[in-house]
Amino acid sequence: MLIGVPLETATGETRVAATAETVGRLVARGHQVIVQRGAGWAASQLDAAYVSAGAQLGDASDVLRAQIVLKVRAPSEIELKKMKHGSVVIGMLDPFNAQSTSAMAAAGLTAFALEAAPRTTRAQSMDVLSSQANIAGYRAVIEATRLYQRFMPMLMTAAGTVKAARLLVIGAGVAGLQAIATARRLGAVIEASDVRPAAKEQIESLGAKFLDVPYLTDEEREIAQGTGGYARQMPADWLRRQAERVDERAAAADIVITTALIPGRPAPVLLHESTVRKMRPGSVVIDLAAGRGANGAGNCPLTQPDRVVECHGVVIAGYTNLPSMVAADASALYARNVLDFLNLVIDNTGRLAVNVEDEIVAACLMCRDGELARKA
Ligand code: NAI
Repeated sequence: MLIGVPLETATGETRVAATAETVGRLVARGHQVIVQRGAGWAASQLDAAYVSAGAQLGDASDVLRAQIVLKVRAPSEIELKKMKHGSVVIGMLDPFNAQSTSAMAAAGLTAFALEAAPRTTRAQSMDVLSSQANIAGYRAVIEATRLYQRFMPMLMTAAGTVKAARLLVIGAGVAGLQAIATARRLGAVIEASDVRPAAKEQIESLGAKFLDVPYLTDEEREIAQGTGGYARQMPADWLRRQAERVDERAAAADIVITTALIPGRPAPVLLHESTVRKMRPGSVVIDLAAGRGANGAGNCPLTQPDRVVECHGVVIAGYTNLPSMVAADASALYARNVLDFLNLVIDNTGRLAVNVEDEIVAACLMCRDGELARKA
């Protein structure tokens, strides 16, 4: 098959959907790969490396007319116009964005949104949310250290002792756990909160303290289990009690990293303005839910997407694409996720074979030959 790898055009997107390594593997399987000139440049993948791996180089129009187009982000209107009816696009296509899905269907495409893959053992190697959230969690801590005007570790010097930074992580999924692990290596003292009871052990195994908000009713206990590995919206009373604990602990923290998401819904508000007011001047908030909360904010209503702002003396960073700040590794991992997914939709003879009986294929399928897929 002819497989195209375009340069991403979304603002600030530096990742690329295939690396020389994955291109080499596709070529070895008999596919033809065409990469847009400069597609991997920002991710340290030079054109020459793609050519050595067996790819041809082309411009956007050549690449977007391939039978299968590998993307990081959903194609723009301009890109859609260049794509062929009946072709396939694979990427992080924002499955809850009905407008974008309709636009891909209207362009006659078969589209697979990899974020929609189930959280199962079999799907792990193509789990883009995990591969990218892991990087986001790491980078959140790196950005926090950059914005925080004090040390992370405790230091005993002749000029006096410096206290270790106190970090509060709200939402201990893939990103939150990586943030804990990274901050621990830097010597911070960490507390973390999550709704899911399974998170307690994971938090503690990384050397952080679990911020316990006990479940008082069977309903709370049941909702806290989540569905398919994801959190559900907790009852208002539990959220209120959690907010009280967060308020207390955030006031004592130097850095707060929030990561809490609920698929298909706005991210919950977990760090209220009244809490930010209580934080010490110079404290830092990194809101990984930036742009995904109500009114485009994040887990904190003061967050502004893609901006670093100062409110009540606290620095609040709303980076929406932290993996792009680690573009080479983010692309390497993402490209392997994409390659593993491709193996599911290309049969042994090298032809496209969309098996909707396969739960991963069915979950990721947004539209097929221009028809919107009915999602369960
Ligand atoms: P996510 O990015 O959807 O959300 C981040 C975290 O925020 C989650 O841990 C969630 O429970 C938490 N959260 C939501 N509302 C909250 C609130 N009000 N207060 C505090 N925390 C709140 O989640 P992510 O990182 O994608 O992982 C979700 C789960 O899926 C994890 O348990 C992870 O271990 C599991 N998982 C399983 C995989 C597999 O079995 N193949 C692969 C990847 C993840």
